Amino acid sequence: NARDRSHVNRRTWLIIVAIVVVLTFGFGFRLYNMGRDISAENGGQTSSSGVATIGGPFNLVDQNGKARTEQDFRGDYMLIYFGYTYCPDVCPTELQAMSNAMDILPADVAKKVQPIFVSVDPERDTVAAMADYVPHFHPRMLGLTGTLEQTSAAARAYRVYYSKAFEEGEPKDSDTYLVDHSSFIYLMGPNGAYIRHFNYGETPEKIAEGIEKVVANQG
Ligand code: NI
Repeated sequence: NARDRSHVNRRTWLIIVAIVVVLTFGFGFRLYNMGRDISAENGGQTSSSGVATIGGPFNLVDQNGKARTEQDFRGDYMLIYFGYTYCPDVCPTELQAMSNAMDILPADVAKKVQPIFVSVDPERDTVAAMADYVPHFHPRMLGLTGTLEQTSAAARAYRVYYSKAFEEGEPKDSDTYLVDHSSFIYLMGPNGAYIRHFNYGETPEKIAEGIEKVVANQG
């Protein structure tokens, strides 16, 4: 009867309105998230030119105890990765990929590239710990550490996320904690500017290919 029909119509309308609302907000939310993903990929910060800024000055110490700044590498490409020596899997995998990529590169390209490992865990990654660690990967790998302030500043400049991860019940003064951290290999140009990054899991072949392409274009 008429009453039932109007009731059905009202319900139908409510459903249509609900669908429209969900689609509108869902789409808007997706756009918002896409924007966030892009800005996260760009390091969440843009310069006045609208170009993302990754990289910048750093003041660190290498595994031989020598003070190092970004200026030391001007004229060379930096292949730079942030992590920590206690990392059980991700860091060793990535540092091995960087090292293998270095070996795949033609010698004239490889000599223009400085592979660098920067600690986000300087409390455990002393100069001595870095000296024990980096030679396992590549003879030319530099391991940079410093004070907590210095490594934090470097990580900030490269928009690296990291956070100590204690297991449930693990005391906060434990020295066996893990560190969650973002895992990108950055390729920086001879002027120190960001060129591109390689994602976690990229093969050494792809990394070498990516570097070679850049060096072939820029010299
Ligand atoms: Ni790691």
